[in-house]
Amino acid sequence: MSDHQDMNNDSNNSHDNRSEYRADTVMEHEYDGIQEFDNKLPNWWLWLMWGSMAFALIYWLVFHTLEIRNLPHADFETEMRLADEAMFERMKDNPVTNESLMALVEMPAKMTEGRDLFVKFCVACHLDDGRGLVGPNLTDGVWVHGCQPTDLYKIVSDGVASKGMPSWTNQLGPSGVQTVVSYVMTLRNTNVTGKAPEGEPCSF
Ligand code: HEC
Repeated sequence: MSDHQDMNNDSNNSHDNRSEYRADTVMEHEYDGIQEFDNKLPNWWLWLMWGSMAFALIYWLVFHTLEIRNLPHADFETEMRLADEAMFERMKDNPVTNESLMALVEMPAKMTEGRDLFVKFCVACHLDDGRGLVGPNLTDGVWVHGCQPTDLYKIVSDGVASKGMPSWTNQLGPSGVQTVVSYVMTLRNTNVTGKAPEGEPCSF
């Protein structure tokens, strides 16, 4: 076969292939004068469509329905929490300072824990948002025993037996006291209307 004939055959073949798509069958329906060809979609397109549908289904099952794997965001949160816990563990042996208590405020997991402790043990006397009932308003800028983080730590650890503020060291342990105190620090200056201010104005 000569080169010339080969070329002819090739062009005939490609012509045949294309004619598969050219054999346009017009489908029966017609909407607003628009008709549709019944053509075979290219394989790459079909692979892409079925592939993405399969991917979506597997993704949905694995991450949402069966929850075999965590979503990346949840993984990130867990890692952050573990890192915070590890840091808290290291801090436990050091003396409690304003800075160490301030550092807890930056740990979302500690704040949740602190809020839970507050709701469980403190709201009876300080009310839900800390606006005060038996105990003083913790949201104003006025404090009986000082407003520095270590002042709060001392009063919550030791209590004021004569005034009815219990000591919490035995019940919560030093780390529990630190956690709840760091939460109380976030209430300072939120100024919820409640019990009238008691003590000295304090700037922080
Ligand atoms: C049984 C009631 C009661 C409970 C429960 C209670 N407190 Fe108090 N709290 C008081 C009273 C009363 C005072 C005021 C003490 C004083 O005037 O010397 C006070 C004072 C305080 C102060 C100092 C306020 C200031 O103005 O200096 C802080 C901080 C505090 N409480 C935090 C807490 C935390 C945190 C908890 C929970 C772990 C808690 N309290 C649970 C009654 C309570």
